[in-house]
Amino acid sequence: MALLEIVTVDGPDYEVLLKNTQRVRDFGPALHKLLDDMLETMRAAPGVGLAAPQVGVSQRVTVIEYPEDEDDPDNTKRVYELINPEIIKKRGAEVGQEGCLSIPGLAADVERATHVVVKAQDRYGKEIRIKAYDWLARIFQHEIDHLHGILMTDKAQKVYRLVKAEDGEIDAVPIDEIPDFHRQAQVA
Ligand code: NI
Repeated sequence: MALLEIVTVDGPDYEVLLKNTQRVRDFGPALHKLLDDMLETMRAAPGVGLAAPQVGVSQRVTVIEYPEDEDDPDNTKRVYELINPEIIKKRGAEVGQEGCLSIPGLAADVERATHVVVKAQDRYGKEIRIKAYDWLARIFQHEIDHLHGILMTDKAQKVYRLVKAEDGEIDAVPIDEIPDFHRQAQVA
């Protein structure tokens, strides 16, 4: 496995973050290597979700790792590999604060469905369906948005700068304007 470089909105390769991705048709060794490398990269970051455009690959692939039991996170971690994922059902709505490895130093309040059903394929191309609620549902929606070139700031109600306080805690300080990260330039 290998650590991949994470593409950020303020880096030179940001354009890949803003475009739609290609469906995966080849479920061979190259895909498996990508998935393994993405998992390692996500864990090292550390993060709970990573979409292929975030490592410069414009394909419909995402990796998520999240505990099944939030009260026992160390022993119940589960990895989800979603290829060509689609949300086929959603309900409920809740605003929550998210972060993104491609938007370092910021957090955003985003409204998401509280319950989703995702249809996807596994690394061998077999169809899978996953039900998720609350945080896992939020992560799925955030990552699937990445596969369509949508960033959390595109849907944000409020954006915060993360600042390390004197006591070592991270403070989320609201900022006045929601950054558009090259959208204007893209349209022009
Ligand atoms: Ni993200």
